[in-house]
Amino acid sequence: MAFSPRFLDEVKNRVGLAEVVGRRVRLIKKGREHSGLCPFHNEKSPSFTVNEEKGFYHCFGCGEHGSVFDFVMKTDNMSFPEAVERLANEAGMEIPVETPEERQRQERAKGLYDVMEAAAIYFEKMLRMPEGKGALDYLIDRGISEASIKHFRLGFAADSRGGLKAALSREGISDQMMVEAGLLIQPDDPSRSPYDRFRGRVMFPISDRQGRVIAFGGRILGEGEPKYLNSPETPLFHKGYNLYALKDAVEAARTTNTILVTEGYTDVIALHQAGFKHAVAPLGTALTEDQIQLMWRVVSEPILCFDGDAAGQKAAGRAAERALPILKPDKSLNFVTMPEGEDPDSLIKARGAPAIDTVLAQAVHLSEIIWRLETHGHRLETPEDRAGLEKRLRDAAKRIGDETVQRHYFNTFKSRLWDEFRKNQPQTPSQTRGRRYAPSVQMAEKSGVSSKIDTIWIQQAILVATLIYHPKLFDALGEQLGSLEFTAPELDKLRQEVLKTLASSPGLEIQALRDHLEDTGFSELLNGLLSRQVINHANFARPDEHSDVARKGWEQTLRLFRRNQLLEEIRAVEEELAENPTREAFELLKALKQTATEKEDAEEDLSSFGDAKSA
Ligand code: UTP
Ligand code: MN
Repeated sequence: MAFSPRFLDEVKNRVGLAEVVGRRVRLIKKGREHSGLCPFHNEKSPSFTVNEEKGFYHCFGCGEHGSVFDFVMKTDNMSFPEAVERLANEAGMEIPVETPEERQRQERAKGLYDVMEAAAIYFEKMLRMPEGKGALDYLIDRGISEASIKHFRLGFAADSRGGLKAALSREGISDQMMVEAGLLIQPDDPSRSPYDRFRGRVMFPISDRQGRVIAFGGRILGEGEPKYLNSPETPLFHKGYNLYALKDAVEAARTTNTILVTEGYTDVIALHQAGFKHAVAPLGTALTEDQIQLMWRVVSEPILCFDGDAAGQKAAGRAAERALPILKPDKSLNFVTMPEGEDPDSLIKARGAPAIDTVLAQAVHLSEIIWRLETHGHRLETPEDRAGLEKRLRDAAKRIGDETVQRHYFNTFKSRLWDEFRKNQPQTPSQTRGRRYAPSVQMAEKSGVSSKIDTIWIQQAILVATLIYHPKLFDALGEQLGSLEFTAPELDKLRQEVLKTLASSPGLEIQALRDHLEDTGFSELLNGLLSRQVINHANFARPDEHSDVARKGWEQTLRLFRRNQLLEEIRAVEEELAENPTREAFELLKALKQTATEKEDAEEDLSSFGDAKSA
């Protein structure tokens, strides 16, 4: 059975090579490739690689090489049609029925690429003719450079019903082929002859991943409807399955590691000119699941860019909804919002490339978008409000197809709910008359950097709080606490005050210590410190815990704190090394890393000792 190249491409895209190979071979991701032990010959060290982007596997040991179909044929001992059928089934795709007409259509499809190429050349030429002067001026007026015109192969279709038709006829291309390629329109009355689809428009060729022209978008010069006219679906062109400028973006993604999805062709071109060569755009429709999956084969988190207006935000919401059922481990989306009233093209024109960097720096993760969609504008005062939010979030997470991802989304939402509810402490009836809304969530909260800082802050807070709740431990812990230096200045002041007070008044009780600290200006900090949020991280610190338990917990926290400090230090030296690679910095890094490993070894010993004891 012969399958069309388009069908085979779709199967390959949907199943994912690494996923299929990964069922047989333990793969480890290394840069753009995965590697593992070759399943086709015996080996001890891995020489088998999988390149998802290129769509093949290769073994440097035995030379085995092929596509996902070859892999299934070889490992499952199947014929080519069997392998295709199995993978298509897995991807939930129907196998096209083979009819003589279908086969003929496929034969013709091969010729259609040549027809599209001839049309692209014709439109490019027309742009340089006297008739094309208006179109060329229009492009130049819009700030599109000569280099971009050449690179994107922009062209012009004159306002005539037979210009392209006559030119391609002279090259021996039949009307029927041109109709099939979507270049001519065949009137319903078959006795009337077909005529040019694109008239009086600037032409944007649309290419596939190999760079072959498969369709066109034509923009009207100036005002008029429709603004853009696109090729219809043809044997070569499947709107929801390609992206404008994808070939360039795949190449650029090797360095950017992401792809930027904008709305329009002109946005892509403007972004390219400004150096963002990883930009793509959908083709006259909203972004589809197939397009998302297509990008996931190349990068793990494409960035979707939407307008700042209400319509743009709605579109972002819909894209997020669309992504949920197809999410997979390690695959997600990020979202950015353009300033109100701007698209990337207009923003670059108004404020240059740095403005795009600023927008990109504010990318928001998919989970955050879902959270905002469900919390925005809802009150959170009553238990019922909160239950409602929890249910909406649970329902959203349930739409995620992958079980593992679903679980992690739900856990993330749950812990955020707790934080949110804690911030919105229950209120007295008089307060509840005014409506309170979920606060908009701060960007910084999601960045890994700040959560790292938070951990260290909380550890420092616990180290002091334990002593405030267990002043009797001063003799045992005072010296160690005295030798530390906290990175948070307010906590360091408190640490010193607690130590000073307990040293000068041995046997001081909790309440007396607290009163003293409140009198010396720490009351606000103390309320935060001894709040549930901190103490929840450290049950051992509670005043009602036995002091031995508190002490053990404290010592454990100190170890974690020291470890984090060490890791922070390593990170800082690494950064310094990247900027200024001196011998001293290198030696220091080596020493720090050595300490870190020794510590880890020591801790492993400790924990295995604990296990042995409890066993
Ligand atoms: P926009 O209306 O945002 O246009 O359409 P744009 O890209 O900013 O174009 P310029 O700057 O006015 O030239 C975004 C995309 O939506 C599709 C096209 O793919 C376009 O690039 N579109 C828009 C259509 O297919 N048909 C239309 O009539 C309008
Ligand atoms: Mn625009």
